[in-house]
Amino acid sequence: MTINPDSQVVQKIFENVRAEGNITVGNITQIYQSVSNLGNIPKPTGFPQNIPKSSTDKFVGRARELERLHQQLQRNNEVVIAAVKGIGGVGKTELAIQYSLLHLQSHNYPGGICWLRAREEDMGVQIVQFARTDLGLQPPDDLELPERVRWCWQHWQQGDTLLVLDDVKDYKDIEPYLPPQPSQFKVLITTRLKLDLAGSLFLEVLQESDALLLLSQLIGEEKINQELAQAQELCQRLGYLPLALQLVGRYVKKRKISLAEMLRRLESKGLGHPSLIVNENDPTWTLDVKRGVAAAFELSWSELNEQAQLLGCLLSLFALAPIPWLLVESAAKEQDSEELEDARVELENLHLLVGEDSYQLHQLIREFLRDKQKNLDASDEQKYNYCAAIVKEAQEIPETPILQEITRFTPFIPHLAEVATVYKNWLSDEDLIVPFLGLGNFYRGQGAYAQALPWQEQCLLVALERLGEEHPSVAMSYNNLALLYESQGRYGEAEPLLQKALQLTQRLLGEEHPDVAMSYNNLAMLYESQGRYGDAEPLYQKALQLTQRLLGEEHPHVAMSYNNLAALYQSQGRYGEAEPLYQKALQLRQRLLGEEHPHVAQSYNNLALLYYSQGRYGEAEPLYQKALQLYQRLLGEEHPDVAMSYNNLAL
Ligand SMILES: Nc1ncnc2c1ncn2[C@@H]1O[C@H](COP(=O)(O)OP(=O)(O)OP(=O)(O)O)[C@@H](O)[C@H]1O
Ligand SMILES: [Mg+2]
Repeated sequence: MTINPDSQVVQKIFENVRAEGNITVGNITQIYQSVSNLGNIPKPTGFPQNIPKSSTDKFVGRARELERLHQQLQRNNEVVIAAVKGIGGVGKTELAIQYSLLHLQSHNYPGGICWLRAREEDMGVQIVQFARTDLGLQPPDDLELPERVRWCWQHWQQGDTLLVLDDVKDYKDIEPYLPPQPSQFKVLITTRLKLDLAGSLFLEVLQESDALLLLSQLIGEEKINQELAQAQELCQRLGYLPLALQLVGRYVKKRKISLAEMLRRLESKGLGHPSLIVNENDPTWTLDVKRGVAAAFELSWSELNEQAQLLGCLLSLFALAPIPWLLVESAAKEQDSEELEDARVELENLHLLVGEDSYQLHQLIREFLRDKQKNLDASDEQKYNYCAAIVKEAQEIPETPILQEITRFTPFIPHLAEVATVYKNWLSDEDLIVPFLGLGNFYRGQGAYAQALPWQEQCLLVALERLGEEHPSVAMSYNNLALLYESQGRYGEAEPLLQKALQLTQRLLGEEHPDVAMSYNNLAMLYESQGRYGDAEPLYQKALQLTQRLLGEEHPHVAMSYNNLAALYQSQGRYGEAEPLYQKALQLRQRLLGEEHPHVAQSYNNLALLYYSQGRYGEAEPLYQKALQLYQRLLGEEHPDVAMSYNNLAL
């Protein structure tokens, strides 16, 4: 190999490292800035080693990890075991290779670097073979293998020695071959297992900047700069997993396609796309990558017991977001909670799942598990149970959630959205609109009308499509969408929807039904907003009477009717009629909902406005203050109702 100028720079750095006796993050970074991969520079002689060939042209990131590993392995005269753990394809083996190369160049392991492929072959055999071919030892043939290995330890070349045990599947397999204590040996293990060893390093996926660097090395910096946004999206799409980046990068280069096109191809095929599959028999395959992404995950999958596989499948149905464990328990309700926990621990042990109270799957592992889920016998059943669990939470979201409730429901929202978009076919007719309503209420309740809108629109479309026009859920969907339009001031669009909702409800449920009363009320509110007081009044009256008759006097809907009617009178300047109704509404609400409720705040606010209109400023002021404080406490500063209350105070 010819020595290029860069590699001379690197040799200089190593000379300093040797003189100073330690290697720092700074040195490491400098080294990899000057040379793409340490495998490309000549290896020093006199240091026995069988480090495998690296399978990347450029090594990125990991300077900190490399430094940390070395610190861990440096205790004197002790066999220290350090383990690099993480999911398939995250770069454990590559990190061990680069660590070995760095310290080969730094002359830190004069006793040699012995690389053992733990998954493939018996370790004892490999150790003896290294001693023979790389150390020139001749272990006696008449000894049993474990004795022969011991003999090798005793006759090993002097000085610190690194043993790399790559891809350990089971700690029990390697234990009999670990070197004796105390001695010159240091052991570096790479594994997908969650070994409880003191010195272990969990390897995360790459940082975005490193992932981009790797991609630009593979497909050219120019191309990345031209399509930077797509490159970023691609990295994210591949979950920053080095293996996936390597494979996709190679594919893009070979096919000479744009990154946008690559994204499109991945969109339709996912892990099944040829770019992510490695065909070992392909004669044109030049890279040392042994397995494609799914194949790498398959190794871990095959080590899971059935319960853990089932749980993996269930988790893959959730959105790509932290999954509250409570939701999982609810979706797997037939299963004993301890058994479920065991299954979770299995997944955690193989690093397939990380978390504390909520758990998250790596993007590509989720995709892998989703493919497995599709092939389950109980695939549909699992989807039904998952949807039912989400529906249960969605039903709990109140129409006007207060801050506390927003906080409580926030972690569920991505999963509600997942059901509403991907799994709606597994919702029962009865539950169909529930996730949509939950999402709508969640956003509308916070005043985030624009975010609520697509869910309310979808709700109507989905309900019409599945249930046909003649269904109470459709009426409800018309209603909710109309209310949202109204909040946005889109009165013209709201009216026909409210009319439809009213007629449908009357036809389906008969005149004597609380939903009919609600429909009258909603329509009246719209008229009032448009200044059509004459149209609004009889509807409010009807709504009030119907509600009183059907639900009795002691009901929040009755309070609402009083309040709305009062507001109408107030708008018309009929202050005398408005006041007793506002008072009644306030008292009813306080009694039924408690003081800490947004409707109580509304009542204070309205009464205050009324007094103000009448010039009764002294009475208005304290009520404003109460309303504002309540609103702030319950809904937060950002809410439109709070802003409105500020306005009132400023009047
Ligand atoms: N930091 C990195 N920079 C560039 N390429 C990397 C990096 N880490 C890993 N790779 C490349 O990603 C691919 C997968 O890495 P590697 O084989 O080390 O994964 P692994 O964690 O050992 O997976 P497995 O659990 O399947 O053994 C390899 O081609 C490797 O060269
Ligand atoms: Mg490996």
